[in-house]
Amino acid sequence: MTDLSEFVRELPKAELHVHVEGTLEPETMFELARRNRVPLPYTSPAEVRRAYRFSKLQDFLDLYYAGQQVLRTEEDFFALADAYLRRVQADGVRRVEMFFDPQAHTGRGVPLGAVMAGLQRAVDAAAERSLSVGLILCFLRHLSEREAFETLEAAEPFRDRILGVGLDSSEAGHPPARFKRVFEAARELGLRLVAHAGEEGPPEYVWQALDVLGVERVDHGNRALEDAALVERLRRDRIPLTVCPLSNLELGVVPDLAAHPLKRMLELGLLATVNSDDPAYFGGYLAENYLRTAAALDLSPEDLRTLARNSLQASFAPPAEGETA
Ligand code: ADE
Ligand code: ZN
Repeated sequence: MTDLSEFVRELPKAELHVHVEGTLEPETMFELARRNRVPLPYTSPAEVRRAYRFSKLQDFLDLYYAGQQVLRTEEDFFALADAYLRRVQADGVRRVEMFFDPQAHTGRGVPLGAVMAGLQRAVDAAAERSLSVGLILCFLRHLSEREAFETLEAAEPFRDRILGVGLDSSEAGHPPARFKRVFEAARELGLRLVAHAGEEGPPEYVWQALDVLGVERVDHGNRALEDAALVERLRRDRIPLTVCPLSNLELGVVPDLAAHPLKRMLELGLLATVNSDDPAYFGGYLAENYLRTAAALDLSPEDLRTLARNSLQASFAPPAEGETA
């Protein structure tokens, strides 16, 4: 292990943008497919990895939702989340705010209770090891507002175990404003609000996430840099951006990591954080995102410390936990 790798792994930090379904490694996909008797269109984990060549978000989402069909039982969701949480804890992560997509599972007949029970068990096991975890329920933006409302209602029995709501899936053509009323209802339940915006979608979607949905953090936010007034708003209000460099590279949001806007975001005074998004698909967990971005953008140890500190500040953890950096 290099010195920088050790330095990054020892930095106290939070991961604020990770989809639990995006931590499904091909080996686990095969194991669960066998256990649950789900046919796969691949003959080996290596073949799955070879299929992971994406040129845009939708290419990825098509394979991503197909792969998730192997997740069926409470035990599957527990095993998935538990493996991820153990792995990132070993990389110095102190706090995780983890997305999950109920509609990707209920839509194929998996009860929400099974998803929640499995995830909650993994969260409780992490707490026993002093890793703090919050769950963020995401609405799929390619589905309707009515379906989002049905999902929020179905989740009410689990209200105490849910930190917030988010918005994910295909961005282009699915503006945040369509979900105004369901985000209002979530806020009335006391849930924290975040949304993916500005990954592929225009700066206008980031404005809508802020001004129509009232989000407290923007997931990705890359394209906000195209709009100087928006940059000023994000800077002035200290709105965190949960940036995902390796995801951006693999989905063609940036042509190469050297062109990634992360360093510029820091120079502009934005509260940028580094995250892994869907690490099983994009070639690296949180520490690799720090390290590969540092190499490509020539980030200093001080920059890395700032990014780690930003992540704890941007988290929704109670203040005592956020101050441990
Ligand atoms: N779901 C999982 N990863 C996503 C991403 N990067 N953008 C939108 N939806 C997602
Ligand atoms: Zn994401």
